[in-house]
Amino acid sequence: MDYLDYFDIVNGKLLFSGEDISELSEKYGTPLIIYSRSIIERNVRELMNAFDKENFSLHYAMKANYNPAILSILREKGVGIDAANLNEVLLALKTGFSKDKIIASPNNLPGNELKKIKETGVTINFDDISQFNMVAADPPETISFRINPGMGKGEFEGTTTGGKGSKFGMPPEAALKAYETAIESGVHRLGIHMMTGSNVLDPEFFRESTRTFFSIASEISHKLGITFEFVDIGGGFGVPYRDNEESLDLGRTSNYIKENMKNYRDLFTENTKLIMEPGRYIVANSAVLISRVTCKKDYDRNMIGTDTGMNILIRPALYGAIHPIIPVNKFFNKKEERGDVVGPICENTDKIAKDISIQKLEPGDLIAILNAGAYVTSMSSNYNLQPKAMEILLDNREEYIIRERDELQDMLNNFIIPEHLKAIGMDRL
Ligand SMILES: Cc1ncc(COP(=O)(O)O)c(C=O)c1O
Repeated sequence: MDYLDYFDIVNGKLLFSGEDISELSEKYGTPLIIYSRSIIERNVRELMNAFDKENFSLHYAMKANYNPAILSILREKGVGIDAANLNEVLLALKTGFSKDKIIASPNNLPGNELKKIKETGVTINFDDISQFNMVAADPPETISFRINPGMGKGEFEGTTTGGKGSKFGMPPEAALKAYETAIESGVHRLGIHMMTGSNVLDPEFFRESTRTFFSIASEISHKLGITFEFVDIGGGFGVPYRDNEESLDLGRTSNYIKENMKNYRDLFTENTKLIMEPGRYIVANSAVLISRVTCKKDYDRNMIGTDTGMNILIRPALYGAIHPIIPVNKFFNKKEERGDVVGPICENTDKIAKDISIQKLEPGDLIAILNAGAYVTSMSSNYNLQPKAMEILLDNREEYIIRERDELQDMLNNFIIPEHLKAIGMDRL
């Protein structure tokens, strides 16, 4: 199980990235997300080493986790940004990314937001010609269009973003017309993009999808005489979440992509960059979410109650996602139990894991939920007025708080009670 790579046991204590999980949980309380800087850096190194340095650019899809401390680590490592909207662009700029390191890939945004993104000077990757038309009168200097190459693959239907029925991108014929329109509007710096799905562990899919995409891009480039400045193959590189899953073979994947690039030499001129924009691969395994068992009950089904709800980790309720869970202080417990791991939210979908086998746990015990670095905190909410998790970063044998736990006041700040509805004596919420 690769996902245990970053755990050690020393004197009976479970360590993550060299630090004692129980001790950190006592100090900071739970639910607690613990990130490791060294794991993030290792993931970035692996991706960068898999491709030739020249004419390759790694962008981080910040929707996976936009904690500014994490963005800052990635900026220091020379990684660029894939942003989904104006706020993501603004946060990337605030954390020090230069505008030439940011590509915005919005979809279905209102025209005024697109115009504001344009004013920041970043490249915009338009999802459709209808989005480009909203800024065609004064277009960005560099743009690309998102192609739907007619195929997609994701771990779940909700994370499959190419092929039939996908809300993203344009089919090749529509893209050809879109590039014509963009050129007529005076845009000369052009790229091309696809993103077909998330958490893919099969190198063959990347072989097939990049081959199809490069062939479409090459045809557009020939027909319109375009030399693309970049060819962006999106993200989607998977990490294992289940016991029987192997890590993505990055060497094989990159070899397939490089092979396909060689077959489309006309597309990849010496001035054309290959761009990749993974989110999950860079941060997923860099964090664990630590929760404490609160209480248990066993009637028709064994329920292991914890302080972590679906407001903090929504992926199991949203997609049926599975996150590995390991006991922290009961790691060596010989007794096992079967049951659902549930949280404090008033929904029956508030199940972090269903029907799993785990070492027998008692109230007060700690569990570690793995792969908590991607699409956990960025998808979390304050449903039921529950705080989001506190987040800390392990960095060079020091630990730093990188997100405080919400207090009630933090969650109330934007609410206003009109004067005439206020309770007597109330000054503020
Ligand atoms: C445009 C775009 N790029 C990149 C990504 C990152 O995907 P992943 O985290 O699977 O690498 C996404 C995620 O949905 C996306 O929509």
